[in-house]
Amino acid sequence: MDPTFISVFSLSVYAIYFMLPAYLANVSALIFGGGTPIDGKRNFWDGRRLFGNGKTWNGLILGILVGMGIGILQGVLSIHVIQGFNVYSPLQNYYYNLLPDNMLQGAVLGLCLGAGALIGDIAGSFIKRRLKIERGRPAPLLDQLDFVIGALIFASLVVVIPLNLIILIIVLSIFLHLGANIIAYLLGMKKVWY
Ligand code: CTP
Ligand code: MG
Repeated sequence: MDPTFISVFSLSVYAIYFMLPAYLANVSALIFGGGTPIDGKRNFWDGRRLFGNGKTWNGLILGILVGMGIGILQGVLSIHVIQGFNVYSPLQNYYYNLLPDNMLQGAVLGLCLGAGALIGDIAGSFIKRRLKIERGRPAPLLDQLDFVIGALIFASLVVVIPLNLIILIIVLSIFLHLGANIIAYLLGMKKVWY
C-alpha cells in the first residue's frame, strides 16, 4: 500500500487516541447527563438562558471524571499502544511525546482534555443562546467543534500540539461527532440526528 496513505491513516488513529478523553467525556455527558442545569435556570442580560437545560452538573462532573479515568488508562497503556502506531514521519517522536507515560501524566492530560471539552461545550451553548438558537437546535460547526476547541486549548496548557495534528483533529472530529450523533439518534438517546 502507498506509504503516504498508511501515514495519514496511522496519524488519524493516533489523533483519535490522543483525543479519546475529550470524546468520551463528551459522550459520557450525553449518557449520564440530565438533572440540575449549571446555570440554575438563570437568564443572561438578553433575557435568554445563560446555557440552557442541556448543560447539567451531572454531565459536567461525570464527563470530567471519565476524561480523567481514560487519561489514567492511557498513562498505563500508551507505551504498548505506541508500538502499534506506524507513522512514517520525521516528526514521529514529536507526536509520540504527546502521549502520557504514566498514571499521573495521564490523569493531568485526561483532566485537561475532559474539562476542556465540557467547558468548551458549555461555551458553545452560551454562544448559541446569544444567537437566539434554542437548546437542541443545530448550530453547524459550533456543535461539532466547541468541545474540541475547548479540549485543545486546555490540553495546550500541558503539551505542545503540532499545528497539523490540530487541523487533523478538527477535521476528524466533525465527522466523528456527526457519526456519534446519528448513532445516539438511532438508539433513541437524541431527538434529532445532528
Ligand atoms: N449534557 C448534560 N450536561 C452537559 C453536557 C451535555 O447533561 N454538561 C447532556 C444533556 O442531556 C444534553 C445532551 O447531553 O441534552 C447533549 O448535549 P448537547 O448536544 O451539547 O446539548 P443540547 O441539548 O443540544 O443543547 P445545546 O443547544 O445547548 O447544545
Ligand atoms: Mg446539541
